[in-house]
Amino acid sequence: MNIVNYIEPLYRPPSEARSLILQITNGCSYNQCTFCSMYRAPQKKFSAKSEQDVSAEIVSVSRRIPSVDRVFLADGDAMALSIRRLLHVLGCIRTHLSSVRRVSAYCLPRNLKNKTVDQLVQLRDAGLQLVYVGVESGDDEVLEKVCKGETYQSTLEALNKLKAAGISVSVMVLNGLGGRLLSTQHAVNSARLVSAAQPQYLSTLVLSLPQGEARFQQGFAGAYQPLNQLELFAEMELFVDNLHLDKTIFRSDHASNYLVLKGVLGRDKARLLAQVRSAIADPNATGLRPEWARGF
Ligand SMILES: C[S@@+](CC[C@H](N)C(=O)[O-])C[C@H]1O[C@@H](n2cnc3c(N)ncnc32)[C@H](O)[C@@H]1O
Ligand code: SF4
Repeated sequence: MNIVNYIEPLYRPPSEARSLILQITNGCSYNQCTFCSMYRAPQKKFSAKSEQDVSAEIVSVSRRIPSVDRVFLADGDAMALSIRRLLHVLGCIRTHLSSVRRVSAYCLPRNLKNKTVDQLVQLRDAGLQLVYVGVESGDDEVLEKVCKGETYQSTLEALNKLKAAGISVSVMVLNGLGGRLLSTQHAVNSARLVSAAQPQYLSTLVLSLPQGEARFQQGFAGAYQPLNQLELFAEMELFVDNLHLDKTIFRSDHASNYLVLKGVLGRDKARLLAQVRSAIADPNATGLRPEWARGF
């Protein structure tokens, strides 16, 4: 048996590059966002790995690489599993991989609908330290058009539950998601939602549709107009300007971004805004990522 078995393709946040990826689920339990083609392949139909197989993989890792210190639970929303199953996985990690200091996973707001704060506290106590939430937008019209299946309110409730349970949160917002028509409300309402949630981490990605626009356009009745580079920067300026954060680590360094931004918000807000504004003033002068180097 391999140390761990994967059903490809496999995705993880950039910050989990050094983590052991444990694929306790395959695919995404929701899988309806029109911009996302990550789990479309036939072999990515949602399923949970059996508890027996998960335990066997953890034991196998413990024999070969006992010094693992971070584990990311894949795939698209491992938090869809029941509290009982998640506690089983976390218990196995704690028993067999004693050097693990951080366990993390992707999490959809809908994954938490039937989970109480007390149950989330149990997960935290068992080692779940961080979840990544694809908020994408705080604007209900944008969320509806991209079929995210969430609203400003449902997302905020989930983020508040996580906060109450002491689980750290990293939220992702998609630059350009509303197109030209909805750009302003997307920026303002996303900033409003993130400010209300005060997450530990915030990252922005630029919408990229490598599989074509057809499916995405359906939600906009064909009226979606993608933002050009300058318009993406203008949307980012409005977003950052409307953020009121106390202590959130902000990263806009995913390969999909033209403009790399890093800092702590609010402390670095003026500097980050100045960076965006200088990119708007002279898109050729600053160290922007060229089109050929962008990726997803
Ligand atoms: C692997 S997905 C899993 C996240 C999780 N299922 C969720 O929705 O919270 C991680 C993130 O990739 C980003 N993503 C997905 N499709 C994208 C696209 N076409 N362009 C840019 N970013 C995309 C979204 O921000 C999404 O939340
Ligand atoms: S963005 Fe997340 S919830 Fe939406 S389809 Fe992709 S993996 Fe699933």
